[in-house]
Amino acid sequence: MSLVLGLDVSTTAAKAVVLDRAGRTAASGTAEYSYQTPRPLWAEADPRRWWEGAAAATREALSQVSSREVEAVGLAGQMHGCVLLDSAGEVVRPAILWNDQRTAAQCDEIRSRLGDRLLSITGNDALTGFTAPKLLWVREEEPESWARTAHLLLPKDYVRFRLTGESATDKADGAGTLLMDTAARTWSEEVLAALEINPDWLPAAFEGPEITGTVHEEAARATGLTAGTPVVAGGGDQAANAVGCGAVDPGTAALSLGTSGVVFAPTRKPVTEPEGRVHSFCHCLPGRWHLMGVMLSAAGALRWFRDALAPGTSFAELDAEAATAPAGAEGLLFAPYLTGERTPHPDPAARGAFAGLTVRHGRGHMVRALMEGVAFGLRDSLQVMESAGAPLPEQIRASGGGTKSPLWRQILADALQAEIAVTATSEGAAAGAGLLAATGAGWFDSVGEAAAALVKVTQTTPPGPDRETYQNLHPLYQSLYPALSPTFHSLTESYN
Ligand code: XUL
Repeated sequence: MSLVLGLDVSTTAAKAVVLDRAGRTAASGTAEYSYQTPRPLWAEADPRRWWEGAAAATREALSQVSSREVEAVGLAGQMHGCVLLDSAGEVVRPAILWNDQRTAAQCDEIRSRLGDRLLSITGNDALTGFTAPKLLWVREEEPESWARTAHLLLPKDYVRFRLTGESATDKADGAGTLLMDTAARTWSEEVLAALEINPDWLPAAFEGPEITGTVHEEAARATGLTAGTPVVAGGGDQAANAVGCGAVDPGTAALSLGTSGVVFAPTRKPVTEPEGRVHSFCHCLPGRWHLMGVMLSAAGALRWFRDALAPGTSFAELDAEAATAPAGAEGLLFAPYLTGERTPHPDPAARGAFAGLTVRHGRGHMVRALMEGVAFGLRDSLQVMESAGAPLPEQIRASGGGTKSPLWRQILADALQAEIAVTATSEGAAAGAGLLAATGAGWFDSVGEAAAALVKVTQTTPPGPDRETYQNLHPLYQSLYPALSPTFHSLTESYN
């Protein structure tokens, strides 16, 4: 039997998935870890815990199959983190993560140093989540850490470094640093010079299926992999997840409905939204780019609702209650900005709101309005992408805990006016890394071929009669943020 292994170094766990030649999951393993919030707005983690988690998850998966049959390994992982190593490869300080919000001042500095060139080279505005402002923060606030730094890596690439000894990344994760010329798919000398960042610190950037090195002896002992197994570049988690769901060409988008909500639309050319309201990154396969919108609270909003207002109630029960309310929840709207927002309102001070409550509304209406609010937030991203010139998708491959709800899938199909398709694997990013490894191992000529052969759609939900209702309600939803924003900001100033 020949196998490949995909490894996702996520924010809270390492997940290993072994795929066979038919794309079936032959084995899997998971190891959880946590991250720290030592101060308000901060999110940090020790990269060595990721390596330990990755090794444990891999050992667990390989205890179910023969490691000799694993022909290649692919890596996926949380994007945008800033891992700094010294010249001996030791970790300089805890990694600063994608969900860290400390760098507002450094984002302003990047905008002022690069002006219009920022958007024209990187395709993006400077956002606190991205890597470049984190580098500036370390230089300004921790000069002693800066002085020791010799290498910059992204989270999954620290695991690659421990596996192979090589300093390398893929171009999707590379673009998420804000240091890349996204159209040219190379590090930007101009951005690096303007931000005074040493180009020698950067990892080599590869296309997703390219081999970046091989597993060395010590890593083989730690993971159970066979020494010499090739490791392909893989992808940042969103790009890898898109591959794992089969979203490699325009027309098929990916949607993830986890704690956060993401819509990911592949493009054949780099497309930049003129105000940088959606992310514009390289896809993790040659000749493809993508636009992406990230909502910070999606299924996380439903979890909050359950924990705060319906403790002990199952999500299935909440779903059934919501299904008794009609589309539009009899005039109730929900603004889902419970943890601030990224797309299309990059505003850490944004807050949540129910608008339009009356005594007629019960819990079912509220759950339905919440699901609709999240769907409208995702529609906002798609609308911005369309205005930038990316065609609206015909089919959206959806993954994440929220898509287990048939009602939420129908609401998404109606609000986004596209067929919602669910695929056989629940671990999209790890599976996508596996598909990139399968391509790198020579099973397929291209990532598109690998996805067409191995990704299986198991269920589709076409738009139904409620699409009209949502078409009419979306502008009302869109009026919430501008109307409430001054109140959100005053509240945040008073209560932070
Ligand atoms: C993508 C993003 C998150 C992280 C964590 O831009 O910030 O999806 O990659 O998973």
